[in-house]
Amino acid sequence: MKYKSQKVAYWFFALSMLLLVLQLTYGFIMGFARIGMDGLHEYIPFNTARAVHTNLLVVWLLSGFMGAAYYIIPEEAQRELVSVKLAYVQLITLALVGVAAIIGFHFNIWEGRKFLEIPRPLDYLVVLNVLLFLALILLTLFKGKRKTTTALVLSMGLLFAALLYLPGMLPFDSQVTDSFFRWWVVHLWVEGVWELIMGGILAFLLIKLTGVDREVIEKWLYVIVGLTFLSGVLGTGHHYYYIGVNKIWLVVGGIFSALEPLAFLAMALFAVNMYRKGEKKHPNKIALFWTLGAAIVSFVGAGLLGFAHTLPQTNLYTHGTLVTAMHAHLAFWGAYAMIVLAIISYSLPNMTGRKLYDGTRGRVAFWTANIGMIGMTMAFGVAGVAQVYLERKFGMEFMAVQKEISIHFIVLIICASLFTIGILTYIYDFYKHGLPTDEAMETEENKFL
Ligand code: HEM
Ligand code: HEM
Ligand SMILES: [Fe+2]
Repeated sequence: MKYKSQKVAYWFFALSMLLLVLQLTYGFIMGFARIGMDGLHEYIPFNTARAVHTNLLVVWLLSGFMGAAYYIIPEEAQRELVSVKLAYVQLITLALVGVAAIIGFHFNIWEGRKFLEIPRPLDYLVVLNVLLFLALILLTLFKGKRKTTTALVLSMGLLFAALLYLPGMLPFDSQVTDSFFRWWVVHLWVEGVWELIMGGILAFLLIKLTGVDREVIEKWLYVIVGLTFLSGVLGTGHHYYYIGVNKIWLVVGGIFSALEPLAFLAMALFAVNMYRKGEKKHPNKIALFWTLGAAIVSFVGAGLLGFAHTLPQTNLYTHGTLVTAMHAHLAFWGAYAMIVLAIISYSLPNMTGRKLYDGTRGRVAFWTANIGMIGMTMAFGVAGVAQVYLERKFGMEFMAVQKEISIHFIVLIICASLFTIGILTYIYDFYKHGLPTDEAMETEENKFL
């Protein structure tokens, strides 16, 4: 059954798409700066562009997750959202806080802690905003008729993600302690609780798209949650190797982070198996592409490319180089960007009543974006490996190495252009669906899709 209040999701998705376009713009600013075309340097220096690029990424993904929750929770709990008005208040304040932070970065109002650059006073507003979001989601779930495993895992992921934001707000004088707790946010998000959010969305989509029984799908979800916590929590140690804490982390971090790919492997096997088992009667094949794609590409980007630099012996050389950027792009893309694009592709036709998935535009967007991103990953990878050898093996000076490897950024820009064409095609498709309507959600055909 569909519920009218699910339509709120549309506006979170729209905000998400807007911020994605901005994120890519700043990616290009950096890409061009890397090949010496740095005309904007005076207004947007590289470090500003980098902070804006990564923070916009986090905000558009969070907006996507929130949209996903507003869409999924009422349907799973079988009741309307407790308050649609407050959900819009939450949307608008989220957008305002995000935009304020990004504008501030251009005037050097920020904290120099990668990914957590938002200054502390604004952090309190972020906390308030997320509390409102959680209240709406959790109240809807607990007042609802059903409490499914899918809904519980998704809400647990969102709740823990909010709680884990707090260690990043503690003030420390020591650089080491600050770094230690920064990873509680950055690592435990992407290699812990965000995986639960991804697992929850993935389970919901597979139930809808493959037609396999909920019981079977939710059993897998338990396995994924188990593997995630087993490896991811102590896996935090792979960021503690050389930051000045106890050497025990070399062993603990090495062993547990090496196990982390298992959770992503389980997710990929899960999705592919459910696809094989299912009747595949659902007409929205594009949503299925993005769903299976997320499960598979995240295994490659997070699992395999994460493993490639996670052992202390390798990380000693690769730490903080473009090898990290190689892994970061494909991991974020596969796991979190693709799952957001999947839930959007699935829910848009239901909310708007326009079934554009029969055309070819959706497939063009999927393949162009993915091929572009794989090319970008390779460009970063080649540049990163060259950087490691020249700088860390042969001892060449840092800036001299940067000059040597700038050629790879021409390839990066070409692949990024292909990627961007894919994304713009996706967004054009989004726009073409038109606005959500109550009638669309009430038509017999849509009600149960
Ligand atoms: C979807 C999941 C993942 C995402 C989005 C992700 C993303 C990232 C990002 C953005 C960084 C840079 C962080 C920073 O320097 O502030 C990073 C670093 C790192 N990631 Fe991942 N990652 C994921 C999963 C994994 C997994 C499963 C492994 C191990 C098997 C792994 C291994 C590493 C390592 C070793 C580093 C540190 C690199 C360095 O020392 O510079 N990652 N990851
Ligand atoms: C037009 C497309 C894009 C371009 C040209 C681009 C370019 C770049 C560049 C040049 C950097 C800085 C690397 C350095 O330190 O030199 C960067 C960082 C980063 N980008 Fe992108 N990017 C693009 C799209 C994306 C997308 C779609 C994602 C996520 C799905 C993403 C995630 C990241 C992350 C997480 C970092 C930080 C990596 C780290 O900590 O090492 N980017 N990007
Ligand atoms: Fe990590």
